[in-house]
Amino acid sequence: MPARRLAAALVSAAIVLSAGPAFAGDRRKSPDGRIDPALLFHNYCSVCHGDQGDGRSRARNSLVPPPANFTDPALRPRLTVDYIAAITREGKPGTAMVGWKTQLSADETRALARYVRAQFVEKSGGEAARRGRTLYGHYCAACHGPVGRGLEAGATPKEGVKPAPDLTKVAGLNRERVIAAVAVGKAAAGKPGFAQQMAPADIEAVADYVRQSLLAVSPGVSGTSAHGGKASDGKR
Ligand code: HEC
Ligand code: HEC
Repeated sequence: MPARRLAAALVSAAIVLSAGPAFAGDRRKSPDGRIDPALLFHNYCSVCHGDQGDGRSRARNSLVPPPANFTDPALRPRLTVDYIAAITREGKPGTAMVGWKTQLSADETRALARYVRAQFVEKSGGEAARRGRTLYGHYCAACHGPVGRGLEAGATPKEGVKPAPDLTKVAGLNRERVIAAVAVGKAAAGKPGFAQQMAPADIEAVADYVRQSLLAVSPGVSGTSAHGGKASDGKR
């Protein structure tokens, strides 16, 4: 399988590249002998997944599919510690991602999976979610209420504006439809579009926030987060 051979070549290259004086003795352990997941990631994974875990590595351009970007919000629901550990152990068939079970112990794999989740998956999620929340408060809460369920009892709706629906009761709000609702709106129903005021990345951030944090997204909803449960970080 060419992908595997290429992977092997890249990995040997990585070993050569990373065998600097700091880890000349042992590539896997910190000087005090403990499992050091940052060092493991640097030595075994960053050659493909990049030092920031975002898939931006030199290997990226030569691999199909390219190495996963752990900071991609679309992958967040799937990238649980268990999933990361399983892929790290067994690899991902049909890709250059080979299994590491003969080289990394169960404890090392687990530590690495926790590190990837905390360092790349959750950190990015936190930032995007914070941004989405801010944008929601600024652009949406006046009509949709603080948590997307409409205005709180007693709050006065804007004059001439049809009350916005409880978004948790609208069926089929996949990512594309929420993005369209934000960007285009529905003038006839008193719903403004924000394509003129918000950058595309902001529209996506607010749409992801609405879906992942306000709506209880059920499995089976189509769209990029169809793999997972609700709040992608499992906390909100
Ligand atoms: C030779 C390059 C290479 C190396 C080295 C490598 N990976 Fe990967 N990895 C890939 C590719 C390619 C994929 C497949 C991406 C896809 O499915 O779209 C992948 C996928 C993954 C996935 C699954 C992502 C998903 O969304 O399904 C995880 C988790 C992962 N790698 C973790 C690691 C860890 C941890 C290490 C270090 C022990 C590592 N990888 C080393 C290339 C590599
Ligand atoms: C001026 C009030 C107003 C503002 C501001 C507003 N909306 Fe709406 N929104 C509405 C109304 C009214 C509807 C119902 C439209 C209809 O009846 O089809 C709606 C519907 C929706 C829907 C459901 C669309 C569908 O396909 O059924 C989503 C999702 C939504 N809004 C998200 C947002 C987000 C996110 C923001 C902030 C970026 C926002 N809205 C800002 C009034 C508003």
